[in-house]
Amino acid sequence: MQKVKKAILPVAGLGTRVLPATKVIPKEMLPVVDRPAIEYVVDEARAAGIEHIVFVTGRGKGAIEDHFDQAYELEENLQQKGKQQILDELQRNLPKAGSTSFVRQQAPLGLGHAVWCARDIIGDEPFAVLLPDVLIKAKTSCLAQMVEVYDKTGGNIIAVDEIPAEDVNKYGIIDPVSQDGDIYKMRAMIEKPDIGSAPSNLKITGRYILQPEIFGLLENQATGAGGEIQLTDAMATMMQDQEFYALKYQGVDFDCGNKLGYLRAIAHFALSNSELGNEARKVFEDALQENQ
Ligand code: G1P
Repeated sequence: MQKVKKAILPVAGLGTRVLPATKVIPKEMLPVVDRPAIEYVVDEARAAGIEHIVFVTGRGKGAIEDHFDQAYELEENLQQKGKQQILDELQRNLPKAGSTSFVRQQAPLGLGHAVWCARDIIGDEPFAVLLPDVLIKAKTSCLAQMVEVYDKTGGNIIAVDEIPAEDVNKYGIIDPVSQDGDIYKMRAMIEKPDIGSAPSNLKITGRYILQPEIFGLLENQATGAGGEIQLTDAMATMMQDQEFYALKYQGVDFDCGNKLGYLRAIAHFALSNSELGNEARKVFEDALQENQ
């Protein structure tokens, strides 16, 4: 069985739900405590053994590419000023040369289309997809938990989590048929079902391990929910021919594509930050008191 070594991060989205913050800054570059959101997702991928990341970008997203490049003048300046600690951190976070690729999604045709745009770089091997809107706080990275399952089962795996019934129309939802511990088998999945007609309250959380046959399906995928080419629809078709599992992973996810989700991420990551944690708690307590 081939190992999962490559991951796709679709970063072409416009971030309309967090405007005006994202008018000029890519939403993936918004800071969560002391790092841009995208770094958390790249770290999650690396912690799962991913060796090559394909960023599917679009216009106005150049800051992402720059962020994962060496900043020669800045580093030189930090060196001269003896700011070794931050310099070390910058260098530690720099991907190994040649371990990232950037492809353009030329038109915003949907997540399925974004994933398809990476097909030539992924080639004929299994791969992961991590949606950078979703940050996941977990002891073992969510994707690493999925890889652990994948190494036993093969096939295709998606991460799922329970959500309140009134939120099902915002996500992809699975239709489970059986459960073995944290792993579900499914008969279907549906993108953004109407409230009241969803087959379950298990949402697709934005982490996927997929077989390359999905690219052939995406190539001919008709538009679905929201008039977009949906990854969920292609997966639902592939499920007829291939093994598909859903893992209820251990951890908490934050949907940073909306303002409250982003705020929750900041609160959680600030409180568990090794340098700032205790003081952050005090900041939040004071803010609560002062705003009663
Ligand atoms: C995408 C997927 C959806 C998934 C969600 C997770 O939707 O299409 O299946 O549940 O991400 O955040 P989007 O947020 O792009 O509308």
